[in-house]
Amino acid sequence: MLSKTVLNALNEQIQKEYYSSYLYLAMSAYCEANNLPGSARWMRIQSQEELSHAMKLFDCVSDRGGRVVLKAIAQPPTEYKSALDVFKKVLEHEKFVTASIHKLYALSVKENDYASQIVLQWFVTEQVEEEKNATQIVEQLKTVGDSKTSIMLLDRHLAKRGA
Ligand code: FEO
Repeated sequence: MLSKTVLNALNEQIQKEYYSSYLYLAMSAYCEANNLPGSARWMRIQSQEELSHAMKLFDCVSDRGGRVVLKAIAQPPTEYKSALDVFKKVLEHEKFVTASIHKLYALSVKENDYASQIVLQWFVTEQVEEEKNATQIVEQLKTVGDSKTSIMLLDRHLAKRGA
């Protein structure tokens, strides 16, 4: 049985994962409109991945007899300065999500909720990967600087991301 505090925190995390999906879809739209088709595809896949994160938590709640309560999702920003700006904001957002997952994990430890800890361990590992990927792209974009040709080549490389 889920405690009320863990249940509430899981429902909040579901909302954060949906917001992540919405945010990355907005970034995809920006990239699409700014001649960055590879980045747009990368963001679209990322957006889909966030939906699967939300559903993993959805199942974690409902499998244990908890009630999923979906919360309102805020409008994400629509404008960015550049490809570098977009990916810097991805990294910033992933760091925020990591902190939230860690807080949730700490709560499940405090509440002796072993089943939630197992599910959340997957998220802890996933966040390491998410931050690593975003950091790599930010560093690559910093390296190429303002070179339009290099940005285009990097964008083509991002288009190769598998689902
Ligand atoms: Fe669901 Fe990108 O963290």
